Amino acid sequence: MTSAPAPRVRPRRLRETPALRRLVSETRLDPAELVLPVFVREGVTEPMPIASMPGVVQHSLDSVKQTVTDAAAAGVGGVMLFGVPETRDATGSCGVDPNGILNVATRVVADEVGDAIVVQTDLCLDEFTDHGHCGVLDALGRVDNDATLERYQEIALVQAASGSQLLGLSGMMDGQVAAVREALDGAGFTHTAILAYSAKYASAYYGPFRDAVESTLEGDRRSYQLDPGNRREGLREAMIDIDEGADIVMVKPAGSYLDVLADVAAASEVPVWAYQVSGEYSVIEAAAMHGWIDRRRAVIESVRGIRRAGADGVLTYWATELAGWLREGTE
Ligand code: PBG
Repeated sequence: MTSAPAPRVRPRRLRETPALRRLVSETRLDPAELVLPVFVREGVTEPMPIASMPGVVQHSLDSVKQTVTDAAAAGVGGVMLFGVPETRDATGSCGVDPNGILNVATRVVADEVGDAIVVQTDLCLDEFTDHGHCGVLDALGRVDNDATLERYQEIALVQAASGSQLLGLSGMMDGQVAAVREALDGAGFTHTAILAYSAKYASAYYGPFRDAVESTLEGDRRSYQLDPGNRREGLREAMIDIDEGADIVMVKPAGSYLDVLADVAAASEVPVWAYQVSGEYSVIEAAAMHGWIDRRRAVIESVRGIRRAGADGVLTYWATELAGWLREGTE
């Protein structure tokens, strides 16, 4: 008979009971640090399902009210609004039109929720352009960085005036944070904050989102979004945005970029958020539908991993449902 020496060190001691595990848990989730992304579609009276995102819908201007009210009641910290317009053009005109869907939705939501939840808007052009790019194009069909900045400045003023408290700059143009900050300050919107999607990677995980906003993209976004292989560049982008005046910086997607998130979290002096994007949502939902994964546990684990890596806040399509679970306890 062999006899193994008795271990001197026993980490299992602290895993023995639920109470002990709870006591020593390093990463807790709180509904207040979650943000719910919400789609609002022009010209519909009923919420429309999104095939590739089961459980997520394109809201009508009416149904969005209940969704944000429910999120606020569950303790969710913020909502991020996206608009799905009926018509698009080359320069994304409906983004700057006060009667464009996103701006109308922002007013409706801001009126509905008051201060109960932070109202945020996606500041980009891809939902509004007919070519699907996040900027305007030059004569050769390339995304024109500096012309796009002017467009973002115009959009920022309309969104701020509509009641958005935190503008989510997701277009990955160079200089976008500085440009928008300058426009806001020049118009007296000194209190409107900027969330910079700083380290936004050219990801396959945005696939279902394109469905959600019905965007058809000509080409790809690799000339402005980051190469998935680049870690250092993610940190650099975040540092540039902080320098330009970002109030919060973000890493996106979250799950495949936890190293970048940890780097940014270690270096940032402003809050760091992560976006658990549409594809990350759909992957878990699809596996759960097949019975291949425990849905609730997988959702909690995925968001917890993002928090553990250093995110102070998480945008997730499960925000309201997760907030409900957190009240019941995560075990
Ligand atoms: C750009 C934007 C995108 C997402 C959020 N803002 C799409 C893209 O860059 O292709 C993706 C979010 C998601 O996939 O959940 N307006």
